[in-house]
Amino acid sequence: MNHKKIGIITTGGDCSGLNTAIQRIVDGCVRRKWDIIGIKDGTDGLCCTPAKTVDLTDESFQFAASHLAGSILSNGHSWAENFESSAKAGKLGSFNKKLQKSLKDLNLDALVLIGGNGSLSLAHMYREIYNGLSLVCVPKTIDMDVPLTDKTIGFDTAVQQLVSYCDQLLLTARSHHRWFVVQTMGRDCGNLALNAGIAVAADAILIPEIKFDVENLVKHIKQSKRDYGIIMVSEGISIRGHSGKPADMISRALNSANIPNRTAYPEHIQRAGDTVASDRILATGFADTALKAIENNETYVMTVLQDGEYKTVSLDDFFNAGKKEKDPNITGAITSNRYVEPDDVLLQIATDMGIYIGEKRK
Ligand code: F6P
Repeated sequence: MNHKKIGIITTGGDCSGLNTAIQRIVDGCVRRKWDIIGIKDGTDGLCCTPAKTVDLTDESFQFAASHLAGSILSNGHSWAENFESSAKAGKLGSFNKKLQKSLKDLNLDALVLIGGNGSLSLAHMYREIYNGLSLVCVPKTIDMDVPLTDKTIGFDTAVQQLVSYCDQLLLTARSHHRWFVVQTMGRDCGNLALNAGIAVAADAILIPEIKFDVENLVKHIKQSKRDYGIIMVSEGISIRGHSGKPADMISRALNSANIPNRTAYPEHIQRAGDTVASDRILATGFADTALKAIENNETYVMTVLQDGEYKTVSLDDFFNAGKKEKDPNITGAITSNRYVEPDDVLLQIATDMGIYIGEKRK
């Protein structure tokens, strides 16, 4: 087996499972007698001269951090030089050149980039940054909005975090005969709200992909056999003529109908939590697949899980498979996105179980 030097970087929002993926990749490199370095602080650490790096073979990290949320490498500072700030300053070209130079100086054979659909779309768009090395991407995000893979690292733990949170809320909800409108993360993709809503037997689940009617929601809640429960609301929903946080909008509508309720915002707790077993298995499967891809000198690929099979797809395929949207933060950049499909089996299950999920599939 040829000797290689591998780098790992985590970019975009953090989530639980990043450290498991890092640890498994490090393990695989050590077994292969490859050198392995971690790049600190995402792209803002990479664009420094010299790039900020860390020794990941340190034993204390191996044992302490692999099941904990967050990234041992950090994902970067919001105020630093990165794709977003460089695009705003009209300096994307020079920023990309800095990244390219750093990678060259590090003399890497391969880079494992663990990122969400924003980072993966940027890697596809600015592929020249990774010229001369093998770029293998690993999808992670609690939003589960990455095309072509059945799962992304962090999603299952985020669902579990929401379930634990709602289990607690339900106890107080029952005592006070009132409803909780829980606003989930997920950006404009409803996967997180839909899965968590089904797991906690929410009475209603509102997601951006499905139009809903507030009056029908109110009617549905009034007809419930219980006088307490969860109304799961994705952060990406909107109501015509209303502004503000989606959960507040729904809460106001319930107030007008004299339905006692409170709002709850689990916020970044969804990105935390000890990594659940299925995310650890996924992270391990992706680590194994990424290392094999490096052995096979693959480049511009992403690891995926499809119908139980771990494999790689090209970044071109990833990009072409999704719905293209303008990147909300980076002028000129396009992201490739996945949404809840109208034929998602969970939508039918929710309907069959009497959960209000809206009116018409958009
Ligand atoms: O994309 C992951 C995510 O957690 C979204 O679900 C959420 O809208 C966003 O990131 C929050 O970002 P920030 O950490 O900047 O508040």
